[in-house]
Amino acid sequence: TEYETILVETRGRVGWITLHRPEALNALNTQLMHDVVDAATGFDADRGIGAIVVTGSERAFAAGADIKEMEAKSGLDMIMGDHFGEWSRFAAIRTPVVAAVAGYALGGGCELAMMCDIIIAADTAKFGQPEINLGVIPGLGGSQRLLRAIGYYKAADLVLTGRMMDAVEAERSGLVSRVVPAADLLAEAGKIADTIASKSLPSVFAAKAALDAAMETTLAEGLRFERQAFAALFSTHDQKEGMAAFREKRSPDFTNS
Ligand code: HXC
Repeated sequence: TEYETILVETRGRVGWITLHRPEALNALNTQLMHDVVDAATGFDADRGIGAIVVTGSERAFAAGADIKEMEAKSGLDMIMGDHFGEWSRFAAIRTPVVAAVAGYALGGGCELAMMCDIIIAADTAKFGQPEINLGVIPGLGGSQRLLRAIGYYKAADLVLTGRMMDAVEAERSGLVSRVVPAADLLAEAGKIADTIASKSLPSVFAAKAALDAAMETTLAEGLRFERQAFAALFSTHDQKEGMAAFREKRSPDFTNS
């Protein structure tokens, strides 16, 4: 498929989505949302894909929702436009997603990174929720996922002042899992994605679902989910293969079944 606002590529078992609206620092307009959701759900339905990387340009991962597109809208327009529902489909895909962030990840851009499972940052990355400077607030999880990621006080500092934090502060805060030199960003993100894609898909899906349960539910419910999912994996071929390979001191040959 040809897309207007993104570049899409498959490398081995990894699907790559590169945001590409250079004229607007990859601002997330409606077309870009359709494109990203379509590409990501397509990869998610493909058994040949075991991980996805989402990245932007050197200057910007994404500088937020498209302010020029939103400016004139009413409250009802915003609800009826279903921006939230469609992005939730991205957040709900089963396949793990690595966000590779260089430059600005602001507002909806930071929120898109937080809908991914691992955020790896170039040393040039800048994160923030600057919506307060526009007379609004985060609308795609910035007041919810950010708080769960970095805690109330750090999240409140960012959401209430609209300031940016650099890659080092973002890693220290727990938003970013690794900071790398900008020149190494895509190679490092690719390595992480390749590693995930080499595992057994049923176990990878179960692991992501269990982590999601930890974000979304109570401890008791999350533990119940984890125990069920753990038990269910014992009816897969790959559990028998993984444990046999350990005993036989060889690498496992997973069949995703
Ligand atoms: C539309 C944007 C944009 C955005 C940048 N551009 N961000 N267009 N929406 N969010 C455009 C600029 O208008 C400009 O085009 C071009 O991209 C380059 O940007 P500059 O501002 O000239 O670059 P620079 O001076 O380097 O400043 C970079 C920046 C600044 C600090 C990132 O662009 C900025 O503050 N952008 C807005 C960041 C922001 O407030 N994001 C939150 C959006 S609200 P032209 O053609 O004009 O020169 C949000 C809510 C989420 O995300 C909820 C969703 C439902």
